[in-house]
Amino acid sequence: MLLLAQSLPSSATTYNLDVKPILTRHCVQCHRAGEVGPFPLDSFESASKHARQIALAAATRFMPPWKPVAPGVSFHRERKLAALEIATLQSWAASGALRGSVASLRATPVAPSNEPDQRWRASTSYEVAGEGQDQYRCFVVPSGLDEARYIDGFEFLPGNRRVVHHALIFFDLSGAARKMDAEAEGPGYPCFGTPGFLPVASLGGWSPGNGRLTMPSGTAIRAPKGADVVFQIHYHPSGKTEWDQSEVAVYFAKQAPKRKLLDIALTSKAIDIPAGQADYKVRDWFEVPVDVTLQQIIPHAHFVARAARAWVIFPGGLKKSVLTITDWDFNWQDIYQLKAPLALKAGTRLEMEILYDNSAKNPRNPNRPPQRVVWGPGSADEMAGMHWNVTVDNEARDLEDLTSSLWGKMIRTIRQR
Ligand code: HEC
Repeated sequence: MLLLAQSLPSSATTYNLDVKPILTRHCVQCHRAGEVGPFPLDSFESASKHARQIALAAATRFMPPWKPVAPGVSFHRERKLAALEIATLQSWAASGALRGSVASLRATPVAPSNEPDQRWRASTSYEVAGEGQDQYRCFVVPSGLDEARYIDGFEFLPGNRRVVHHALIFFDLSGAARKMDAEAEGPGYPCFGTPGFLPVASLGGWSPGNGRLTMPSGTAIRAPKGADVVFQIHYHPSGKTEWDQSEVAVYFAKQAPKRKLLDIALTSKAIDIPAGQADYKVRDWFEVPVDVTLQQIIPHAHFVARAARAWVIFPGGLKKSVLTITDWDFNWQDIYQLKAPLALKAGTRLEMEILYDNSAKNPRNPNRPPQRVVWGPGSADEMAGMHWNVTVDNEARDLEDLTSSLWGKMIRTIRQR
């Protein structure tokens, strides 16, 4: 054994030299105590025990979880291993998962963090039953803001990562959320799909592995004076009774935003999927009347959906794909922020298509046997959304044009059903 170790080539793949930096960069945010990953990968002992599984999960691209495939554009916080990193994990597993000398350990730089300007925390902890179905619950926290503030970054801090699957954060000025909270038994109120009111603003979503999210440069979300903050949390039972008290930490913009972030929502309410149909498609499109720049894109659908695609057709007829997800999973809701914002000149057509598989072959189909599925916010219903968050290149000249044609589009969508 000793001989064998001594005769190893000096280039042998080891944990300390080769593997630890990869795991630290791509895996440990979810694979550590109290996180969503099923086992920790933050020490030699735990990682080496799972070496073969790691190599396989990496080679099949099952891990790290990242839904977009063959993207036409690159996104921030892309969770993806390079081919060389996969090869390193494979060679480490194949050569016996060696520790390597600690002297060769390269330091991993830690990103500096600064204190948030405000924290909003659920007032009491909520009991999540160990068994049964997933739950969707909304919690209301008075913001206490005595003036409107602009938020340009936030971090959702789940109180209990074993059960918090994802969260969306909204602002309510109507008082409706408070009312539903008061009427429902226990902390918060049940909500799925939508929070049950029309939000004045939203910070967007959080899913495991996302740290602090920053708004596209020069933009911010306006949190109105006196608004209530509403967390819509998706809980996944862990097998035993758990408690959660989640929090959101926000960062205020130093000055009023220079640009507005507009939502061009491609959606459809014309969804009526016969039981058993495996290739039901919903499409929508919008032609931008003015020059805009795409900053981020957010798809939305429920459990029967299998694929989500977004693309543009430039005025010259050239097609460019923006987001392609072929293994849609409701559990991995993400905001996809473009690394290089995409210029969309007036006359560019934004298109989307969502594909639904309402057959028994879809492993995520909640109905056994399959049943007819129609549009609606409930977990047994379906939705189709592709939110294109854009800035207007010349706001002073063009903002009004864009907002009025978006109103026109919205009215057409409402009339669909
Ligand atoms: C964003 C969070 C996240 C990141 C990042 C992540 N994982 Fe995971 N991992 C999970 C979750 C959640 C599961 C359980 C998945 C499931 O059962 O569907 C899992 C499961 C696994 C499994 C078990 C697969 C099996 O056989 O069932 C392995 C191995 C694994 N991850 C390795 C890795 C490696 C290696 C990395 C980094 C290259 C990584 N993970 C990054 C969340 C993550």
